Amino acid sequence: MNSLIKFENVSLNFGGVNALTEVSFEVPDNSLFAIIGPNGAGKTSIFNCVSGIYRPTTGVVKIFDEDISNIKPDAIANLGVSRTFQNIELFENMTTLDNILIGAHRHIDYGSVSGLIFSKKTRREEEKARQIAEDIIDFLEIEEYRYSYILSLPYGIQKRIELGRALAMKPKILLLDEPAAGMNNEETEDIARFILDIHEELEITVVLIDHDMNMVMDIATEVIVMDFGKKLFDGDPKEAAKDSSVIEAYLGVSD
Ligand SMILES: Nc1ncnc2c1ncn2[C@@H]1O[C@H](COP(=O)(O)OP(=O)(O)O)[C@@H](O)[C@H]1O
Ligand SMILES: [Mg+2]
Repeated sequence: MNSLIKFENVSLNFGGVNALTEVSFEVPDNSLFAIIGPNGAGKTSIFNCVSGIYRPTTGVVKIFDEDISNIKPDAIANLGVSRTFQNIELFENMTTLDNILIGAHRHIDYGSVSGLIFSKKTRREEEKARQIAEDIIDFLEIEEYRYSYILSLPYGIQKRIELGRALAMKPKILLLDEPAAGMNNEETEDIARFILDIHEELEITVVLIDHDMNMVMDIATEVIVMDFGKKLFDGDPKEAAKDSSVIEAYLGVSD
């Protein structure tokens, strides 16, 4: 299997709005795959089709070569697909550690009854989850925020914690929706470095949405450019920057 995600002529319509129009692409194994395009281009809709939150009006989405048309979002996540959201979705009144533990709990096995009676097995599994969470806290360099409540933390750190929760699910594919949105330059450089490390050290295939070309040009191995629900370009990020239709799509955008 060479492609982890495959879109085959996917269209997605909402009433009169064509969020996606006949979009086809493949995310190769081990890639750092970027999806860029102006606001409203259909980027988040692509993620929602991968997660099973939206179902294509026509066309097929495959994950690990399997058609996901009839697979529920939870089961898709269990295939090894984690994501972060454009707007942070953390539990604000919980600590960093607890938020990351929520991700880690997804792939541990309590058995059916043992969770209720706090058996040896439950304790072992709980320790395993805790270890996973601690490793991620080290990896993302957020040790000092371990016991801090989310709402007390700076935005850039919250984004990093959300990344941590997604990583704690031990995904094979990590979907990141505008991880650098709203960040200053320093925070953007930090998050770009962590994304690279996730790709290179943890060997996770990353799909990265951004509306800004800059970070993507530096770190992505492949990019597709979306505009008004259509794919304009697919290939080498360096080539995208030179492509006339891509340049045109971006010239029309003010932000
Ligand atoms: N649930 C929905 N209902 C109606 N329109 C939607 C819905 N989701 C997305 N759209 C529309 O689809 C288009 C693409 O949206 P989206 O995928 O969020 O773009 P992007 O993430 O690139 O900014 C937009 O015109 C948006 O308004
Ligand atoms: Mg979006």
